[in-house]
Amino acid sequence: MSGEDKFASLIGGHRPEATNIVIFGANGDLTKRKLLPALAHMHHWNLLGHNSRIIGVVRQKWTHADWVHYVHDELLNYFPEAVVNPPSWRVIAAKLDLVSGDLAEPVTYRHIAEALHEHEGRKNALFYLAIPPAWYDTVARHLHEAGLSDESEGFRRLVIEKPFGMDLPSAQKLNIDIQSYFDEAQIYRIDHYLGKEAVQNLMVFRFANSVLEPLWNRNYIDHVQISVAESLGVGYRAGYYETSGALRDMIQSHLMQVMSLVAMEAPVSLDADDVRDEKMKVLRSIRPFSADTVKTQAVRAQYAAGEVDGEKAQAYRSEPGVDAASSTETFAAVKFYIDNWRWQGVPFVLRTGKRLPVHVSEICIRFKEPPQKLFELNDGNVRNNELIFRLQPDAGMQLSMTAKQPGLSTHLRGVNLDATYGMDGLGMPEAYETLLHDVMMGEAGLFSRADEVEECWKIVAPILDAWAEESDIATYPAGTFDIPGMDTLLQGCEGGWRDLSESVQE
Ligand code: BG6
Repeated sequence: MSGEDKFASLIGGHRPEATNIVIFGANGDLTKRKLLPALAHMHHWNLLGHNSRIIGVVRQKWTHADWVHYVHDELLNYFPEAVVNPPSWRVIAAKLDLVSGDLAEPVTYRHIAEALHEHEGRKNALFYLAIPPAWYDTVARHLHEAGLSDESEGFRRLVIEKPFGMDLPSAQKLNIDIQSYFDEAQIYRIDHYLGKEAVQNLMVFRFANSVLEPLWNRNYIDHVQISVAESLGVGYRAGYYETSGALRDMIQSHLMQVMSLVAMEAPVSLDADDVRDEKMKVLRSIRPFSADTVKTQAVRAQYAAGEVDGEKAQAYRSEPGVDAASSTETFAAVKFYIDNWRWQGVPFVLRTGKRLPVHVSEICIRFKEPPQKLFELNDGNVRNNELIFRLQPDAGMQLSMTAKQPGLSTHLRGVNLDATYGMDGLGMPEAYETLLHDVMMGEAGLFSRADEVEECWKIVAPILDAWAEESDIATYPAGTFDIPGMDTLLQGCEGGWRDLSESVQE
């Protein structure tokens, strides 16, 4: 093993074949905040194949030098280590190439094809669509017509960002359109939550240990909470968010994907389709919503003015680009039931929102009370056992147990068995690094298949329909969890909502 390969193996990655990473929307927000830092980090770990290139596609008339300056400046903002070390930056800069042109014009794709042909060896290409969804179909069609979906000279993979459709019909149409240009096996639908270290670890904890399996069912688990709380507001994304809202933006994708990993049966193998088949079985077992159950099992609200992290925060309706009478939800919570043998009667309650008091994402498996109250539960800290998978901050796992308070009396107290996933200072790969690496390796297990995306839309459709009829929306003060109706979702569940501030370590 060469020194460089050893370096790559420190974080366990295999070096993919040289790939042309073609980024549509190369001067957009996602590229600067996520893709460029992820690629630079992969370069740092020697996980970008030799001769790999990063080909930006922009609509503006840019020169190659403009693109190099842009990448330099944005890396300085988002991953400075990549540029402050001149030898490292020179290697990254040498990988940069640019195609500037109109995405609706065939000539742009001819230029992309020419850029691939300048490449030595196999002409592998990853086409990353970091562009508004309205363009997905057009770009996929042009790539196909330019011969760029043909894999005879190297692999050709299409990476598509969320949102994948706005509802079931639009997602179905998009799937049909894109599948007429690329095979399903060439399509990688990104859900970056699946690339998070803690989400991947969930599968390992469940299926590489035998202690959890006997407990992982309706006999021992009272309910499951999946929370993604953000303290930031909608920021500069009002244009998109006004057409989306929290249910579409987060629950239909990230949170339902996480739920299906928590609930699924062990797959036959780790092959992408074996894992996705098991997730699909969970989704197909979800009890459909009716107009009545939407009222009792789904809650939405919008942030009003308030205070977050000691600073005044304006109301959603006062954010730039937001309609002053907007009824878009910035918080959504939904209670699902999975009607199968393992989970019958166990609520899975998913909640997410912006401008909440903390920035925490976690899964809480809350176990039932012991059947006999043998000890006097006289300490306020004592509560049902909980297994927490913390996605962020400080990804890790925690098991809360009840123990004896040291002393002569039998007072009880809660203790936590805590395991953070810190990697001895090596740094954890970001979700986008993991996912880009998987695309280059041809591993599709962490990407959503067409049927999964459609099934998720189908499940939430009655909620979307009911909410579309409502012009009023409840509000909560920014920086609080004072959300009308949120507590009623947990009626009948033991222990109430978990206090997410416990997951924020000082
Ligand atoms: C995105 C949503 O998919 O996920 C954003 O569009 C949200 O609205 C983001 O803020 C949250 O991701 P993370 O990784 O910061 O939890």
